[in-house]
This record gives sequence, C-alpha cells and structure tokens, in this order.
Amino acid sequence: VIGRGQARANANIALIKYWGKADEDLIIPMTSSLSLTLDGLSTRTEVEFLDATAGSDLLTIDDQPQGGRALGRISQFLDVIRKRADIDAPARVSSYNTVPYGAGLASSSSAFAALAGAACAAAGLNVSRQDLSRLARRGSGSACRSIYGGLVQWQAGHDDASSYAEPVETDMDLALIVVLISGQEKHISSRQAMRHTMSTSPFYRAWVEQSKDDLEQALVAVHTNDINTLGEIVEANALSMHAAMMAARPAVSYWLPDTLVAFEAVHQIRSDGLDAWATMDAGPNIKVLTSGQQAIQVAEELRERLPGVNIQVHRPGPGLQVNGAG
Ligand code: DP6
Repeated sequence: VIGRGQARANANIALIKYWGKADEDLIIPMTSSLSLTLDGLSTRTEVEFLDATAGSDLLTIDDQPQGGRALGRISQFLDVIRKRADIDAPARVSSYNTVPYGAGLASSSSAFAALAGAACAAAGLNVSRQDLSRLARRGSGSACRSIYGGLVQWQAGHDDASSYAEPVETDMDLALIVVLISGQEKHISSRQAMRHTMSTSPFYRAWVEQSKDDLEQALVAVHTNDINTLGEIVEANALSMHAAMMAARPAVSYWLPDTLVAFEAVHQIRSDGLDAWATMDAGPNIKVLTSGQQAIQVAEELRERLPGVNIQVHRPGPGLQVNGAG
C-alpha cells in the first residue's frame, strides 16, 4: 500500500433540483441547485492505492465485491484523481452505507463525496474544499453539494473551474422527513432519465427557465427566514421537474400509487396548519420539508396517515470529514 485515506460524507436532498447536464463529461449542470445535507444518511469510504504497476481497481460496497458498471464508474472517477496526482497505482475501495442503494435516497451524493475525500487523501493530494467539490461533481453531480453540511448551493458555472457548491449561511431551523415508500432499486437511473428528459420533453426548456426563478425566490425565502414561501417553492419545483419527465417521450415516471397517497397526506397535514411540503427525486419516495421544531409532530401525523410506511426524521448533517493521509 502506497497511500491510504478514509472519509465520511452525508447524503443531501435537493430543495431546488438539478436535472440535466450542459456538459456530460465534466458534469456541468443546466441549472444551479439548492440542497440540504442530512444527518443519519452517510457513506464511509476507505481508499488504498496499491504498490503495483499493473492490475485493476477493487471495490466492495458493504463488504460485497462489485464489478461491472459500479466498478467501471469508480475506476473512471479514480482516473481523474490518478491523473491529477500523477500516479498509476490501482486502488482498493471499501465503502459502507447507511443509505439504501439506488432508491432515490441520494446514495450517489454521499458515495462520490466520500470517495473524493478518501482518494485525495490516499493520493497525498493537497486540495481545498472547492477542489473537493469540483472533483466530487465529476463522479456524480449531486455529490459536489455533500462536501458541505446544512444548506448548500451548487453554482452551475460554465466549465470545470466554475461549477462547484458553496454553503449557504442561514439561521433557519429545517428538517427533512424521509417517507420510504419503496427501498427497491430504481428502474431507470437519474443519469439516463435526465438525458432522456432533456432530449425529448417539450417541457424541459420551460423547466430550466422556471428553476432559475425558483432558486432566486428560494434564496430570498431563506434569507428572510420564511419557511412558508420556501416550502411552496420547493414542492412546486419538484413537481415541475416530474412534469417535465412525464412529458418526455416515452414518459419517465418514478411515481407509485403510494407516492400520490403520501403527497395527499402531506397536503392534509399542511391544511391542518403544520409546516409540511413534499419533494421527490429519481425514485418513488418522498421527503417532507418541515421545521426542526415541528419535525417530530409532522412525522407522527404522517405515520398515522400512512400506516406501515417507514418514516424517519433527518436534521441537517455535517459536510465531508477526511482522515488519514497518503
Ligand atoms: C433528482 O447527481 O444522481 O436527485 O450527475 O448523473 O450522477 P449524475 O446525477 P445525480 O442526479 C440527481 C438528481 C436529483 C436532483 C438533485 O439531487 O438535485
């Protein structure tokens, strides 16, 4: 072993979504986005660069050896790090998740943020937080936001140097409640689905335009501590993204009947006067934005209306933590 590094990152959920790339290779998004990094949904990754001139990368996720596409994507990412560190060594990557894999719970966000941190440490690279965000972005767009804790904005930028995430200062007391409708792997990856939406949905352009306004207004709501306005925009932004997907040809739909039932429950709880707005990503689960103060009560109300569904409160979590050096 010529270098070893370890890192832990938490998943983030977008409040204003990223959906579509201006540059597929560098992962430059069409729009800027806003997210909340959560506690309790994390990936811990160890990377070791091996003392060998030949040989291939090895990957385990939760102690299960991986090959095929998962390994290919990791190797491709490690190539970016190897090139930067000017090394040739194969790597052994071991990753442990507290996030169900591929269920629209943003496992790729924590995974590539942790991998970026661990791989840079193992390669002995001296990198800034901004560098780490830009590197994590190369693995999975949303991962660039998991470098930071709490509320985070990803500036779309226009090239590798200008596209990275930054923390958003706020006193807002937010929480997200994950309503786990299905832990099954998604039928179409977000990567494929966003490409298909961009190239076939007549509503995609409109979504891009709207999302610029949404982000602007969401940031004003954050700065004025106005959770009602923020919640309304967050829910509308997610539904607009899914509307653009539905209009793709053929349609992309992550909805299950129970997803709609959960949305209805959120609307009822809101009309009873509680803080509750739903958002949804590339999977059938929903996440409910609420205030930290009302989170327990909203979760209880949801459990009453959605019996048998796994419902967990997540508070804002920390950014990337890196240990050990090369
Ligand atoms: C719906 O970051 O998984 O969660 O960049 O292709 O790896 P790639 O996509 P990914 O897409 C996330 C899409 C989303 C919205 C969001 O997190 O902003």
